[in-house]
Amino acid sequence: MMKVAPSILSADFGNLQKDVEEICNANCDLVHVDVMDGHFVPNLTIGPVVVSAVAKCATKPLDIHLMVENNTFFVELFAPLQPEYISFHIEEEKHPHRLIQKIRSLGIKPAVVLNPHTPPEAIEFLLQDLDMVLLMSVNPGFGGQSFIESVLPKAARLDAMRRKLNPTCLIEVDGGVSDVNVQALKDVGVDVVVAGSYVFKHENRQTAIQNLQI
Ligand code: DX5
Ligand code: ZN
Repeated sequence: MMKVAPSILSADFGNLQKDVEEICNANCDLVHVDVMDGHFVPNLTIGPVVVSAVAKCATKPLDIHLMVENNTFFVELFAPLQPEYISFHIEEEKHPHRLIQKIRSLGIKPAVVLNPHTPPEAIEFLLQDLDMVLLMSVNPGFGGQSFIESVLPKAARLDAMRRKLNPTCLIEVDGGVSDVNVQALKDVGVDVVVAGSYVFKHENRQTAIQNLQI
């Protein structure tokens, strides 16, 4: 079944505990946390003070998506919260293999993120060291953008690569995901979808999560 990671970027930050509890009670699979530094992307979000409050009320594991310039600094900052995954952008890391080893040594599953223009071959020689690859289906920085269709053939190519090199590595897609495109994502081998506005703007968030768990 498709795993669903609601992105709390679209939650009501005035009622964050309520929103996090609601998606966890609705049986989401992961809680997706978007960390933006105002440099790698033109937006600024939350740091470990707020994310530790999320970690306290979440009954599902955290999936931390770093959109930052100084990955190592942010990995060290968030490691004490013991998320399930930390993902970092390949476009922003000179020594990705070293950082993957560091994340794993901290007891966290390492993942890399590819922007819409980055080909899956960019991580061919990292794939066997990863637990997950996150493909962006929007330009990172904001919720509520439209889904970029070229992620579909890209995910299919990545699926073929991981079957050969690391069959247990998951493929996650982030951006513009809804009930309209989730079947197409499943068909090309995607295992996890991130959904922000689709889940949090839905009149029934439990129904929204179930619509994606196909
Ligand atoms: C965008 C973030 C996403 C965002 C997705 O940079 O990485 O996780 O919250 O939001 P939607 O699902 O609304 O596109
Ligand atoms: Zn994200």
